[in-house]
Amino acid sequence: MNLKPETLEKIDGVITHYPVKRSAALPLLHLVQEDQGFIAPEAIEWIAEKLELQPVNVYELVTFYPMFRQQPIGRRHIKVCRTLSCALVGGFQVCEEMRKQFDCALGATSADGEVTIEFVECLASCGTGPVVMIDDELHEKVHVARARELAAQIRAVAAAEGRA
Ligand code: FES
Repeated sequence: MNLKPETLEKIDGVITHYPVKRSAALPLLHLVQEDQGFIAPEAIEWIAEKLELQPVNVYELVTFYPMFRQQPIGRRHIKVCRTLSCALVGGFQVCEEMRKQFDCALGATSADGEVTIEFVECLASCGTGPVVMIDDELHEKVHVARARELAAQIRAVAAAEGRA
């Protein structure tokens, strides 16, 4: 598996924080997902070997916790907050609009691989909802019209890069 050197360093550091190696399984899954964007079957095997576990033990964690993805994400990662404050001011409609704009199912990646759209829990900006995070950038007060603009910007970048 091709992990970045800094991820490998963090992984080795994290393992030393636990008296029993197997307890590091969740932190390792987070680090691998951060590095690769998802948890591939070979990542499960790699983590299992690293922690002296059976792959099935790691696989169970990946399937139990909804934050772990087993498929690669799109070029752009759109996360819409679904927690109460954002939901009360239209978060669900914003998510629906994003889905329509890219013809993409929730929690999935669009057919062209351009975007992955997910509902997430509170993005810590509850007073300025609905909140949408696109890659590492937080967008506040994103109502439906703004969602359309953001989608248009994403498409414009894809077109400029020769993908549309
Ligand atoms: S509820 Fe949406 S950011 Fe907190």
